[in-house]
Amino acid sequence: MIYRLALIGFGTVGQALAEILLDKEERLKKEEGFEAVITAVSDKFKGALYHPEGLDLKQLLQAAREEGTLEAYPDTPGLVRGWDSLTAIRESNADTVVEVTYTDVETGQPAIDHHRAAFESGKHVVTTNKGPVASAYSDLSRLAEEKGVRWGFEGAVMSGTPSLRMPRVALAGNEITAVRGILNGTTNYILSQMELGKTLEEALREAQDKGYAEADPTSDLEGYDVLYKVMILAEVVMGTPLKREEIVRHGIRNLTLEDVQQARREGKRWKLLGEVRQGNGRLTASVQPVALPLSDPLAGIDGAVNAVTYECDLAGPITLAGAGAGPIETGFSLLIDLLNLSKGRP
Ligand code: HSE
Repeated sequence: MIYRLALIGFGTVGQALAEILLDKEERLKKEEGFEAVITAVSDKFKGALYHPEGLDLKQLLQAAREEGTLEAYPDTPGLVRGWDSLTAIRESNADTVVEVTYTDVETGQPAIDHHRAAFESGKHVVTTNKGPVASAYSDLSRLAEEKGVRWGFEGAVMSGTPSLRMPRVALAGNEITAVRGILNGTTNYILSQMELGKTLEEALREAQDKGYAEADPTSDLEGYDVLYKVMILAEVVMGTPLKREEIVRHGIRNLTLEDVQQARREGKRWKLLGEVRQGNGRLTASVQPVALPLSDPLAGIDGAVNAVTYECDLAGPITLAGAGAGPIETGFSLLIDLLNLSKGRP
């Protein structure tokens, strides 16, 4: 079966998926029996294209990267231009919608509306947006189930590092009593640089230059980015939804250079930890800086890397570390969702 994809959003992540599909076409076909064509692309800033037989990925990437607009894609018979996102979702012949728009994480929009439109039209969705998973997980899961379609969102936490799939699939059968992790690359980069003597502001500028930081870095520094990831872990991994207000949240803004370096001298490292813990019959969660002893596997995580420890009753503590951001890594999270979806795997 050849999957027909509608790419809703064609920024760095959407382009990375197109690049991966182009580079890996032969391998995916041969080893995974997976074939996909992109029939629709709709991007608020770059324009929109639809061709029922599929768009040429090389020309698509060239138009977006070199010209900055899909208007530069050559005219071919049957090509339709200018559809908005909802039209591309509803009217295209795609069976799967790749939702990678710039979405407001607090409201989850426009991604939530795009998910609803896709599910209502009987289309699967894969996304890397946190908003729809953090604030509409149960509604959207129910709708997808009702319509007999599937939803993949591995990249919402830790991009291509399988922080959601691993506990649900590889650790199935365990009771997971706690999940705690370094879930924000920007702040971990900043804290690592402060240990070397840089100020928070200097290190933040570097993190922005390297492309780790959110458009508004307040979300990183004040712990909101981690808060939404913690909400996702609570509901998806631990099975209990938590409201924003129920989660204690402190960012790293108040940590001084002296605090960070003093901890180092005491054999500790400050890390911004997101934690969800089951105890006394209830789930509690927090986002806060913690001075970890070096014996904790999370203490060894340097730079923009993310890591998460699952405390399991049978397997014991299991720590997973890897990229938490980056275009290709995040593009990979969409690919793994597509592959699993095509094979009927969770
Ligand atoms: N700004 C985030 C980070 C990107 O630094 O980890 C991924 O959510």
